[in-house]
Amino acid sequence: MALIVKNGTVVTPDGVATTDILCENGKIAALGEIDQDRSDTVLDATGKFVLPGGIETHTHFDLEVMGMRTADDFLSGSKAALHGGTTTFLDFATQFRGETMKEGLANWHQRAKDGVYTDYGFHMALTEWNEALSDEMSAMIEAGITSFKLYQAYKGSLMVDDGEMLRALQRAAELGVTIGVHCENGDVIDVLVEQARQRGDVTPEFHERCRPPQLEAEAVNRFITLAELAGARHYVVHLSTGTGLDQVRWMRQHGARTVIETCPQYLFLDKACYERGDFYTKAGCVMSPPLRVAKDRQALWQGLADGTIDFVGTDHCSFKLYGQKDHGKDGFWNIPNGAPGVELRMNLLYSGGVASGLFSLNRLAELTSGNAARYFGLYPDKGAIEVDADADFCLIDPHAHWTVTHDMLHDRADYTPYEGQKMQGRISDVILGGQILIRDGEMIDDVPRGRYVKRGLPEYLD
Ligand code: URP
Ligand code: ZN
Ligand code: ZN
Repeated sequence: MALIVKNGTVVTPDGVATTDILCENGKIAALGEIDQDRSDTVLDATGKFVLPGGIETHTHFDLEVMGMRTADDFLSGSKAALHGGTTTFLDFATQFRGETMKEGLANWHQRAKDGVYTDYGFHMALTEWNEALSDEMSAMIEAGITSFKLYQAYKGSLMVDDGEMLRALQRAAELGVTIGVHCENGDVIDVLVEQARQRGDVTPEFHERCRPPQLEAEAVNRFITLAELAGARHYVVHLSTGTGLDQVRWMRQHGARTVIETCPQYLFLDKACYERGDFYTKAGCVMSPPLRVAKDRQALWQGLADGTIDFVGTDHCSFKLYGQKDHGKDGFWNIPNGAPGVELRMNLLYSGGVASGLFSLNRLAELTSGNAARYFGLYPDKGAIEVDADADFCLIDPHAHWTVTHDMLHDRADYTPYEGQKMQGRISDVILGGQILIRDGEMIDDVPRGRYVKRGLPEYLD
């Protein structure tokens, strides 16, 4: 089955050009002027931007937190992702304490058993470190997992200590895999939460006050120090502060090859969300790290524009306001952390980054697909519009103006933290493996056709 994407403004690694794309057998077969007779299926992309299909680096679908499961599973989460132009996502399979990585991985493959609308892969989150896990790490590479996550937060459940982190980084260095770290200081957070409880400060805004920005900068510095000591590839997960960004810049000036992910919520929202509205409005924004101040948002936008930040994932971790977030009505520490966002990632970045004139279409393609493809071992199959790559594309209508409301999204949460956000430009069409799945914003092929993708070793981005 062939498809021709005709006359689009196509973002290739060499720049932007008006060209056609011929897709055959799920791959890009040719770029240039393509004769219409070569296929019965022609998608007219006149006036649209054609980008490589989005690669979402950070989701939590079907995750259990505090005895509650996220509102989105692999089916609903991937359907939402697809509508937003994402054609591949990486979810965090998790080795919970006492489990092997193999068990963790099997549990996550099981979650995808009812099908997935996009291609997908897994990182492996580790909640402890020991000899057995060290021995198992190489088997993960064979299973297609070349990135791991450690937490410096969530003491008592997910958090590892510095010794465990160092040993894991040393093993990662031996194998050439990368470790991403959630950078906050879990010991200090626990003390601050306990003191807030004692004082009776129980409402959602105290979630943010117990996780001050200094704790991210400190944890970023500690993590990179250990990673450099171990000689390991490493990246900062969901960076949220300007001071955290400054730490990375400083460490890079001293030789570190740190890679950075940030998220749309730290670019578009800030802690004003905890100061207004009722419990539900505030609880919907309870996530870790928490939302910061406007100055942090500006610093992160600058980091995207000047090349300091490498890619953007959403940390989509959706809980319903009613029946889930409200478990924390009497104490913010019982609010399950996380928020939805997977469907809006590419739209938000186009609107806030390209339509606003801050960065180019090529930079958008790097931030939403190209850099993640290279860093997470998906390139050359994914991440660029070039011959022999997978025929995964996201088309943007640059002239659309619209306002976000939750009822137009496809996740199973009961809100979006971006309600009312004004947008310019809109994902109109999405193609996966040479098949048009979304046409003018509507799903035309409601079959979950996504494949699990085994990934190669990470490439350096500098
Ligand atoms: O609040 C969040 N981000 N929940 C998901 C887990 C994590 O830390 O990434
Ligand atoms: Zn995290
Ligand atoms: Zn996360």
